[in-house]
Amino acid sequence: MRLKNLVLGILLMVLALGVLFYRFAGEVKEPERIVIDGDTSKPWFLKEDTPRRYNAEKIPQLWPEEPVDSLAEWGREIFLTRGCSVCHSVGEGERLGPDLKCLHRRRDFKNSALVILNPDSMLSGTTDRYPVEMPNQRLTYEEAEAVLHFLLKESRGCP
Ligand code: HEC
Repeated sequence: MRLKNLVLGILLMVLALGVLFYRFAGEVKEPERIVIDGDTSKPWFLKEDTPRRYNAEKIPQLWPEEPVDSLAEWGREIFLTRGCSVCHSVGEGERLGPDLKCLHRRRDFKNSALVILNPDSMLSGTTDRYPVEMPNQRLTYEEAEAVLHFLLKESRGCP
């Protein structure tokens, strides 16, 4: 009789804990992220070619009023190490691609970020003017954002 009560008690406790855990786990919310990385639709060996995923709806339309220095500094590093500077200068004229100075006068923030994140669908490909297509450098949204802060900082005094 005693053993039966004990077993019943333990069972009830496990059940109660289970219900609590279920409720609690249900309330843990993913923070809202603009980048949704970790594409599970492809095996890892194909992922190199997959563009980073992002939620375009969450990307702000407008440029920030002022560039954030720490982001601009990180952005400069990315610009120099991820291939951008091979094709783009900032204020030194065209290379294989357009000079990116004053980009914020030509494109809004969202459009600029999307060009970096997904050049294939945002740009027309090769043109008479530029002999190469811009490749997808697989930046995350955070990296693209940093590059844009860098470009904004280098674009002071644009008309
Ligand atoms: C192999 C050369 C190449 C590389 C590398 C490259 N781009 Fe480009 N990019 C281009 C070309 C060419 C265009 C213009 C395409 C067009 O107008 O259709 C372009 C266009 C752009 C534009 C739009 C410019 C405008 O005036 O509207 C942005 C922004 C840009 N690139 C950012 C970047 C960034 C940031 C990187 C590095 C992560 C990068 N690009 C790497 C070739 C390149």
